[in-house]
Amino acid sequence: MHHVLFVCLGNICRSPMAEAIFRNLVKQRGWENQFIIDSAGTSGWHEGEAPHKGTVAELASHHISTKGMMSRPLQAKDGEVFEYIVCMDNSNIKHAQEILGGPSDKQLIRLLDLTAKKIDVPDPYYTGDFKETYALCTLGCEALFNQIIKEQQ
Ligand code: 4NP
Repeated sequence: MHHVLFVCLGNICRSPMAEAIFRNLVKQRGWENQFIIDSAGTSGWHEGEAPHKGTVAELASHHISTKGMMSRPLQAKDGEVFEYIVCMDNSNIKHAQEILGGPSDKQLIRLLDLTAKKIDVPDPYYTGDFKETYALCTLGCEALFNQIIKEQQ
């Protein structure tokens, strides 16, 4: 079983987008029984809230549901549960390191470092560009899935 946690600042825009895209991709490839997938925020500012309406609308346009998803803060014990803790930007990495204590370099990664782009996922809470978030999260999630499958072989 693979445990994958996506992390951003508020857990309402980028990390729920990545979580829903990755869950959909894993299901399409027929691996849903092999994965536990979740997301969290380095802040608890939106704890208990559903994803941002921009994230919900963009995912809905690709027939991906956000039903039941709810923001929660990253906790120290997530470091014991999740094999991959996948951050959207470098400030998420810094804050996640503080919350988790001593994550390994392999465990704590920036999503687009798995691709040729190696950039932060820009925050649509500020840019308003949820289509960009969808495209970058899809690119990163495909690379992440391929890496996890390759590593287990
Ligand atoms: P996210 O975006 O980290 O992608 O969920 C944000 C959501 C909320 C805030 C900032 C970024 N905020 O300042 O409340």
